[in-house]
Amino acid sequence: MDMITKLWKPSAQPKESDVSIQEAANLLREQQVVAFPTETVYGLGADATNESAVKRIFEAKGRPSDNPLIVHVASIREVEDLVTHIPQVARKLMERFWPGPLTLILESNGTASKNVTAGLKTVAIRMPDHALALALLKAAELPLAAPSANRSGRPSPTKAEHVRQDLEGRIAGILDGGPTGVGVESTVLDCTSEIPAILRPGGITKEDLEEVLPEVKIDPALTGKDTPPVSPGMKYTHYAPESPLWLIKGEDEFFRNQLHELQEEGYRIGVIASNELAEKLHHDFVLPCGSRENLTEVANRLYEVLREYKKSDIDLILCESFPNYGVGAAVMNRLTKASVKIIEQP
Ligand code: TXA
Ligand code: MG
Repeated sequence: MDMITKLWKPSAQPKESDVSIQEAANLLREQQVVAFPTETVYGLGADATNESAVKRIFEAKGRPSDNPLIVHVASIREVEDLVTHIPQVARKLMERFWPGPLTLILESNGTASKNVTAGLKTVAIRMPDHALALALLKAAELPLAAPSANRSGRPSPTKAEHVRQDLEGRIAGILDGGPTGVGVESTVLDCTSEIPAILRPGGITKEDLEEVLPEVKIDPALTGKDTPPVSPGMKYTHYAPESPLWLIKGEDEFFRNQLHELQEEGYRIGVIASNELAEKLHHDFVLPCGSRENLTEVANRLYEVLREYKKSDIDLILCESFPNYGVGAAVMNRLTKASVKIIEQP
C-alpha cells in the first residue's frame, strides 16, 4: 500500500472551484480515500455509497470492518437519500445543531454501502461545521463515509501533521486546514429508540441536547462495565498513546504522591494535567492541557498531548481526571478508553 500522498493547503475560505478541492473531489469520485479537516478531528473520507471505496478506508486505518462509519453530508436534503424517514426529533436536532458535532443514528434505506453500516439497519449521519469539509462534500457531490484519520487504536488527528504521521503513503491525499476546533469527535445520538440515547459523548453535550429534547438517555454501555456495547466502536482499544497511560482520580496531593512513589521505583514518568496541577508539580515532564475551568480548551488539546510523549523517553503517563460534565464527559470517555489502569483515591 505504498502510494504517493498528495498534500494540499487550500485557503481558509475555500471555494468548490479551487484546484485543491477539485483534485481531492476527483480522487474521491475515483474511489480513492482523502483526509480532510472537520470542526472535531480530521476525517478519512470515501464515497459512502461505494463498497470498494469504503474498503480502502478500513485498509488504510487497519480498522476492523465490523465497526460502522459516520456518513458526512453538506445538506439536510442529502439525508433524505440515505434514510427511510427523518423522525420529527431528528429534524429538530438538525435545525438546531447542524452543521456541528452531532451525529444522528437513523434508519438506513440501504443507500449507504453495507461496510459503512457494518450490516446494521441504521446509519450514522452528520453535517460537519467546517468550510473545507463542506466545500469538498459539495464538489464531490457524494456523501462521504469518514472515520477519524488515524491508524486504528491511535489518538485521533487534530492537525494535518498527525494524519501524515499515521497515514502517509497509505492514502491518496490530505487537505490541510490547520488545527481543528472542538478536538474530540462528534456526539453520537441514537434517534431510533423512543428516548434518544447518547452512544458516544462529544462536542454537543447532554446539556445542549436537553435544551431541545424533553429527555435524553445515556447508553448503559457508557457507564456500566459489563453491559454489551450498542455502538460497535465502543468495544475497541482507542486513542492509545505510545506509553501506557494511568488515569488518576483524586485530589492534587494524591496525584503528587502517586507521581513521587512511581518515580522512586525508577519509572520515567510523563504527566498530563490541568494548568493548575501542572504548576504545583515541579516535574520535568509535564504537558499542561488547559485550565480546569475551561474544559473546552482541555478537549481541544487532548489528542495532541496524547500523541506527544514518545516511548523512547517515557515509560508511563500519569494523567489527571477531569469533571464529567459538559464537554468534560467526552474528555473522560476518551481518557478512560486510552488508559490501561485507573487509580482512585480511597
Ligand atoms: O467527529 C466525528 O464524528 C469524526 C469526524 C471525522 O467527523 N468521525 C468519527 O468517526 O469519529 P468514527 O468512525 O471514528 O466514529 C464513528 C462512531 C463509532 O463510535 C461507531 O460505533 C458509531 O459512530 N456508529 C456509526 N454507525 C453507527 C450505527 N449505525 N449505530 C450505532 N453506532 C454507530
Ligand atoms: Mg476514531
